[in-house]
Amino acid sequence: MATFRIKRFNPEKQPEPYFEEFELDIPDGATLLDCMNEIKWTLDGSLSYRMSCRSAICGSCAVKANGHALLACQRQGEHLLDNDDTITLEPLGNMKPIKDLVVDFTPFWDKINKVKPYLEPKDEAPAKERLQSQEEFRIIDDASTCIMCGACYSDCNTLEVDDNFLGPAALAKAQRFVGDSRDSKTLQRVQDLSEPGGIWDCTHCGECEERCPKPARPFDRIKEIMTVALEKGVQTIMAHVMHCPLPILLKEVAT
Ligand code: FES
Repeated sequence: MATFRIKRFNPEKQPEPYFEEFELDIPDGATLLDCMNEIKWTLDGSLSYRMSCRSAICGSCAVKANGHALLACQRQGEHLLDNDDTITLEPLGNMKPIKDLVVDFTPFWDKINKVKPYLEPKDEAPAKERLQSQEEFRIIDDASTCIMCGACYSDCNTLEVDDNFLGPAALAKAQRFVGDSRDSKTLQRVQDLSEPGGIWDCTHCGECEERCPKPARPFDRIKEIMTVALEKGVQTIMAHVMHCPLPILLKEVAT
């Protein structure tokens, strides 16, 4: 029998969040999301959370389990039990809870939009598609796997102290266009991304890399943008000096 300690919040009934415990026998092979569904369907129908695909594709079910963000449908419940046979569930961090495990993604989407997540091509559209070589595609392949679950955003240490930081998801999305051979605005993009709140404000904690459930690996993408910015002679010196001494940065981008 496992204990699920779930952070509950319903501002219409109680202004402060609180923890509620549910006991559940975890069926063999059940995912964390299966367990949450079992709790909702058999113990408390008012428990709120997001889900859709149940296949680690849509990104809806991201929550914090035992302090770290993950996709609930991607992890088996029994693998998350702590020494007391307990799993503690909380809403994603760095976003405002709306109800129970549901958070407000508005700032997340605002930041994605801020990096202009669309191609600005060099020429008029050709009659057919714009072609890329396999090598060119490989540069943006990993960033293209991001499913916008918000796990990296939730556990980003910079966002904990600086709301203005674009965050790992938006910067990974930015790399997908900075590195796109068909785009014409690379210099403008890395200049914009070098403003306060951009790439140079990343503290290199690597937490986003740990939490990303896909090969998008935001920290690697941030380093790739830094490399392009340095190659093009673009950097914001103050932000750079404050957060990352140049020798450390050069070592990072070289690896
Ligand atoms: S429900 Fe779609 S990723 Fe988990």
